[in-house]
Amino acid sequence: MDKKIKIAPSILAADFSKLGEEISAITIAGADYVHVDVMDGHYVPNLTIGPEVIKDIRKCTKIPFDVHLMITPVNPLLEDFAKSGSDIITFHPEAEDNPKATIEIIKSLGCKVGISLNPSTEINVLDKIIEDIDLILVMTVVPGFGGQSFMHDQLEKIENIRKLIDATGKDIELEVDGGINFETSQLAINAGADVLVAGTSTFQGGQDNYANNISKLRSRS
Ligand code: DX5
Ligand code: ZN
Repeated sequence: MDKKIKIAPSILAADFSKLGEEISAITIAGADYVHVDVMDGHYVPNLTIGPEVIKDIRKCTKIPFDVHLMITPVNPLLEDFAKSGSDIITFHPEAEDNPKATIEIIKSLGCKVGISLNPSTEINVLDKIIEDIDLILVMTVVPGFGGQSFMHDQLEKIENIRKLIDATGKDIELEVDGGINFETSQLAINAGADVLVAGTSTFQGGQDNYANNISKLRSRS
């Protein structure tokens, strides 16, 4: 039987004036992870939230926090992100000189490790580290902003990473992030994704619609 697809709503598209309530609402609606986009105005041009906010909103749900760091450098802030209650910490390998060392720091802090690939990043960046990580996040937009269009030219990369993961025999999740809607979700699932990040399409239509949005994103056509 096919594995259940996980949905990770990106809170970037939530109403920040009632963030706690929004997180409770996506939990009740069936979200699997809370996807937190951390941007530093440096690695990407946008600026979002940090560990203090995560610590407070962490109390609103028991589901795992999937924290996507779009920051450079990464290492100096890892302890704060781990202490804030992050369960999975994902970073971009070009944001640190020695990604293997960063992976080890994240593990030593008791968190799962993800590696994120920008649309321009080749999959050989995974060669020496794939055995050490828990999740691979494929960006299907240039990171920095929610609400962008899905880049179809990344589908082949997702298929190739699926093969790489299967060849390891390890339980490494394949997550796809950016421009996921009710159509592109199907393309990502068919290419081999396990987890879909969805901001705009989860939070559209208000809280009464979140459960329906999430189940439509997860379903296989
Ligand atoms: C982009 C972020 C994404 C994004 C997803 O830099 O990593 O998580 O906010 O938003 P949607 O689903 O609206 O494309
Ligand atoms: Zn993200």
